[in-house]
Amino acid sequence: MSKEAPSYQKLRGGYYTPQAIAEFLARWAIQSPQTKVLEPSCGDGSILTAAIKELRAQGATKQQISELVKGVELDNEERAKALQRYAQFATLKNENPIHSGDFFAFCQQNLEPRGLFAGLKDSEYPLFDAVIGNPPFIRYQNFAEEHRRPAFEIMRRAGMSPNRLTNSWVPFIVASAFMLNEKGRLAMVVPAELLQVNYSAELRRFLSDYFNKISLITFRQLVFDGIQQEVVLLLAERNGGGQGGIRAIELGGIEDLASYAYNDFAKRELKPLDHSSEKWTQYFLSKKEIDFLRAVKKHPDLKLTGDVMEVDVGIVTGQNQFFVLNREQIVQNGLQDFTQRIVSRSGHLKGIVFSEHDYADNINSNLPSFLLDFPQVDLNELPPELKAYVRFGEEQAWHTGFKCRIRQRWYVVPSVWTPDAFMLRQVHAYPKLILNQARATCTDTIHRVRFRQSQEKKVVTAAFLNSLTFAFAEVVGRSYGGGVLELEPNEAEKLPLPLHLAVQLDADELHAQLIKQGIYTVLEITDQTLLSKGLGLSQREIKGLRQIWEKLRDRRINRKAVAKVKESRIKTSGGAMVVSRSL
Ligand SMILES: C[S@@+](CC[C@H](N)C(=O)[O-])C[C@H]1O[C@@H](n2cnc3c(N)ncnc32)[C@H](O)[C@@H]1O
Repeated sequence: MSKEAPSYQKLRGGYYTPQAIAEFLARWAIQSPQTKVLEPSCGDGSILTAAIKELRAQGATKQQISELVKGVELDNEERAKALQRYAQFATLKNENPIHSGDFFAFCQQNLEPRGLFAGLKDSEYPLFDAVIGNPPFIRYQNFAEEHRRPAFEIMRRAGMSPNRLTNSWVPFIVASAFMLNEKGRLAMVVPAELLQVNYSAELRRFLSDYFNKISLITFRQLVFDGIQQEVVLLLAERNGGGQGGIRAIELGGIEDLASYAYNDFAKRELKPLDHSSEKWTQYFLSKKEIDFLRAVKKHPDLKLTGDVMEVDVGIVTGQNQFFVLNREQIVQNGLQDFTQRIVSRSGHLKGIVFSEHDYADNINSNLPSFLLDFPQVDLNELPPELKAYVRFGEEQAWHTGFKCRIRQRWYVVPSVWTPDAFMLRQVHAYPKLILNQARATCTDTIHRVRFRQSQEKKVVTAAFLNSLTFAFAEVVGRSYGGGVLELEPNEAEKLPLPLHLAVQLDADELHAQLIKQGIYTVLEITDQTLLSKGLGLSQREIKGLRQIWEKLRDRRINRKAVAKVKESRIKTSGGAMVVSRSL
């Protein structure tokens, strides 16, 4: 697929906020007609205009507006449009209400002379009462060096360590927070990644420390036209008075915002902020549920998956269409003697046991089930069939892909080993381990598991299916717009696992039940053995764990509109095409 150069709009992260969101943020952030407002990247001015209208509605005069509302914008054309809109609602004095230039340089100019960076916490200087914005989402490689430098400097001042994964929106949030006075309110549109991905972990901790009260509003549907980005509204108060904490609220779509009264919103339960980098998806649970999970995690008879297994990524071939073939392709090219068994997709694994018989079924269904395993020798020394096939691959330019290119011999795939079990990397309904009785390996769409004690294989595979482990998988993993839960290997090793009495479970029987009756029948058995008898949890507690799993699972799966858009994007990008080839 040819990579198009990013558009100018994309490079400056120029996607504008729908009016309903702009108005909502302004209404929440502006508490009085004296509120001093900053819009750090105002674009053509949708949020700025919403803020001005809100202030006017609360009684600010046209003369007062230009003293109260300040904007910053890098792009001069956009700034000119914003200025025009601004002038419709305000009497402009000589002073320029929209600063032209980089927001980070603007912050440094404003904050440094006040010595604010020296003691960030309690500024005695009057800054802004509200910062309202929708920062640009620009990846590191497109983030202009001259803006990135001051941006990263500001993050370092906040004790954070920016790196190549840092997207521009992260320092925008940090710098915006610093522009607030000690009672200030931050109202921002941010990518939903804030809730869960590792690269925003530091930001989560910073926000928990810097603000007293945080509210997050998420949507089940995409709210921006033209972009796939799933967003969250971040509403943070430095000192909102009363009890501090965090709450997460999920709405259907943008239309729900208009009718959403702040009073209802304020009634939603606040949960204690735990000042760590823990994922924020847990805050969709009630305080009781969060407390229960934290308590149950400390149960002395619980192990962690990492205690009994090592989870590793599957094989990265760098070019599956060259290395992972079906029987027809193998036969056509005479490659029968140079293959290993492989599972190429998690959908090819049924139940929790992958047997010889299942592998044979995959072959008979013509699924790509053979991994080409080249000897570690030069091209000239390869058997003629392999040599011809390598030449064919080179004609297709398959050796030029990054992963292949960096190998000493592009056709020798490293780290080909056979795991004891597989673990789903991308989970739809529930996570599972699948015992590997067919001695196959797998591609990196599936994780490879090695048990620390091989005699525990069956017991652990069976015990993995329980409501407690399922609930924690939802909290520990991360989900994307498509509704899939993804577990990275290090996350997959951090799942609590109840193993006490697990020897009473029969993996083969559970496998058969799972295929015939489905997961709930299996959970009835495993939960009673492991959670009730094994851990001594009450039936109510077990039901609670089941509900936590279901609640978080349904939340991610139900974001259907998001899934639909993403799906159509995947289809049009042609990522999953099956290519048949011959020499
Ligand atoms: C996502 S748009 C949002 C615009 C506006 N806040 C809204 O919500 O409609 C981001 C804006 O940030 C501007 N921008 C990008 N980098 C910037 C920087 N370093 N300083 C100030 N503005 C910047 C872009 O030109 C763009 O107008």
